[in-house]
Amino acid sequence: MSEKEIRGASEAEIAVLWGEEPYVYPSTEFIAQANMTDPGIYKRFSLENFPNCFKEYADLLDWYEYWHTTLDTSDAPCWKWFVGGKINASHNCVDRHLARHRNKTAIHFVPEPIEEKTEHVTYQELWVRVNEFAALLRDFAKLKKGDRVTLHMPMVPELPIAMLACARLGVIHSQVFGGFSGRACADRIVDSQSRVLITMDAYWRNGTLGDHKKNADIACELAARDGQKVDTVLVWQRYPGKASSPTPMVKGRDHYVNELLPDFYGARVEPEKMPAEDPLFLMYTSGTTGKPKGCQHSIGGYLAYVAGTSKIVLDIHPEDVYWCMADIGWITGHSYIVYGPLALGASTVVYEGVPTFPDAGRAWRISQDLGVNIFHTAPTAIRALRKLGPEEPAKYRYRYKLMVTVGEPIEPEVWRWYHAVVGKGEAAIVDTWWQTETGGFLCSTLPALKPMKPGSAGPGVPGIHPVIFDEEGNAIPGGTGRAGNICIRNPWPGGFQTIWGDRERYVRQYYARYCRNPQSKDWRDWPYMTGDAAVEAADGYFRILGRVDDVINVSGHRLGTKEIESAALTVPEVAEAAVVPVAHEIKGKEPDLYVSLKPGFSPSAELEERIGQAVVREIGKIAKPRKVWIVRDMPKTRSGKIMRRVLAAISNKKDVGDVTTLANPEVVEEIARMAG
Ligand code: WT7
Repeated sequence: MSEKEIRGASEAEIAVLWGEEPYVYPSTEFIAQANMTDPGIYKRFSLENFPNCFKEYADLLDWYEYWHTTLDTSDAPCWKWFVGGKINASHNCVDRHLARHRNKTAIHFVPEPIEEKTEHVTYQELWVRVNEFAALLRDFAKLKKGDRVTLHMPMVPELPIAMLACARLGVIHSQVFGGFSGRACADRIVDSQSRVLITMDAYWRNGTLGDHKKNADIACELAARDGQKVDTVLVWQRYPGKASSPTPMVKGRDHYVNELLPDFYGARVEPEKMPAEDPLFLMYTSGTTGKPKGCQHSIGGYLAYVAGTSKIVLDIHPEDVYWCMADIGWITGHSYIVYGPLALGASTVVYEGVPTFPDAGRAWRISQDLGVNIFHTAPTAIRALRKLGPEEPAKYRYRYKLMVTVGEPIEPEVWRWYHAVVGKGEAAIVDTWWQTETGGFLCSTLPALKPMKPGSAGPGVPGIHPVIFDEEGNAIPGGTGRAGNICIRNPWPGGFQTIWGDRERYVRQYYARYCRNPQSKDWRDWPYMTGDAAVEAADGYFRILGRVDDVINVSGHRLGTKEIESAALTVPEVAEAAVVPVAHEIKGKEPDLYVSLKPGFSPSAELEERIGQAVVREIGKIAKPRKVWIVRDMPKTRSGKIMRRVLAAISNKKDVGDVTTLANPEVVEEIARMAG
């Protein structure tokens, strides 16, 4: 399906329906305390001052050796930032705060069960725990600089502790979202060549203490089958001293962390002085092909970028209590729960469970009890909380100064509820548009400098210069109402460095389309293509319309249609599979799965169920199709291409348009009768 077709069929219509929204202004009280109130920042970060403007962010960090070259483009488009610099992320997020903030909470851990007490991990305690675990990783697990290690951890403080311990050693961590399946974890172990897996036996989710250890066994077995042996599995216990998972430990391979830790009591590990451009972590994300891509993020550039944007966009001050409800297993959590807030010495909240457990008031009680004043979440959670308890927030005495929305476009209607009810009309809102690949924010207003506009992310953040290109590569000016492919003209320090082990794919997917000269070493010839469609208003605000590729955004997270289709094809009866996005009230989009069967098999409810379960098993619950439709045949072009656009129209109860040129127009009506 061509990009034009997708936009024409659905996303562009949203834009038309939305129209222009009036500005909403932040309060004078907010402006009076804000970190960034100098409009000169936009000038300082203009293209004339590129790339040296980013020194302002780098200077938020401690460097062992200061860098000599801001941006090295010699290996374009693999950009190197702050070359010559030596730095350690663990030192910057932990050690350097001890002098002034030793006794201050770094992480407020809120367990899901309401009867369990909140754990307040101070910077001192974080430092001790990171050091001891780093010693364990080095001396017991034999990890060293440059090794990759896969983490498959839930939302507990042991996750940031493990990440920071890796960072201390120069070990590259790759955290897999805890809700992903053992299979998904295995794929990432294999791709990153990890011989160590760090996990936890169990965690709470929606009132259930689920067995998580079993996923480690599946992951290790499947990874071994694909040629990657995991020799060491480090298992944290959710309740130290007690096994919460019935899955047995594998002798010689599995070790309880809390049984090993006493050997490292009091251990202190000198942070490695790492070259700024060495990798800090890999974060896998979905793309157009079945295989997830390991986005490789640097130490110096990434940390500078997330620290800088946490300061000026999230307005984090060291005395703030900041709560981002995302999962650390996604990029939002890496950048804006762990690295950004901790680099600034703030207190960051880690909540184990779902925001609506045990009731719609949970999020607001946590905010009230911990004194949260910056709140960060996604439209999908806002919609869910609004639906469950539209009047709830008013019952609690928390006070937010700033709120964040991220992950997918927010409907102006939902935005207004967020502002009026959750923010009590007082909190400023930033709608931050960015991606796993970009490490940090691309578009957002600066909260004290630009008014908000419901439904629009805003202009590029300082140092980010977006442009909308049409299919031919001509820039579409703002104010024309025409949508196109939103790209970024320039590199920035937070951008990923490459796809782990696949530079060719990195160049092809993100740069090839609008590259002016593949031989060029000039960054101006290499605009970064985000894969999103957008429109630019006359005021330079961008409204993001959605993906132009085969990616479905479910609850603010990317799922590749190919991944889901491949999962369906693991069921022996399935001949063909096609996934399309369906609008969903809370999740934004949901996958609908169409399959046709091999000859000799017939549809049944049992088979539908089994296909749905295959998707859950292969990827995780997040990818579970709304509905599995078993069809006699897929609508196809004469050349045999499945017409996903037609299926998407049916699933969304829209007009399928002209199908007379298809090879089999008659099946369209048949499918529409069934699924429409
Ligand atoms: C895709 C990236 C960024 C961290 C969370 C998701 C969509 C993201 C917004 C927003 C409209 C948004 C885009 C983007 N998206 N933020 N504020 N408004 N759309 O990271 O899983 O890499 O997904 O999410 O389509 O390309 P991700």
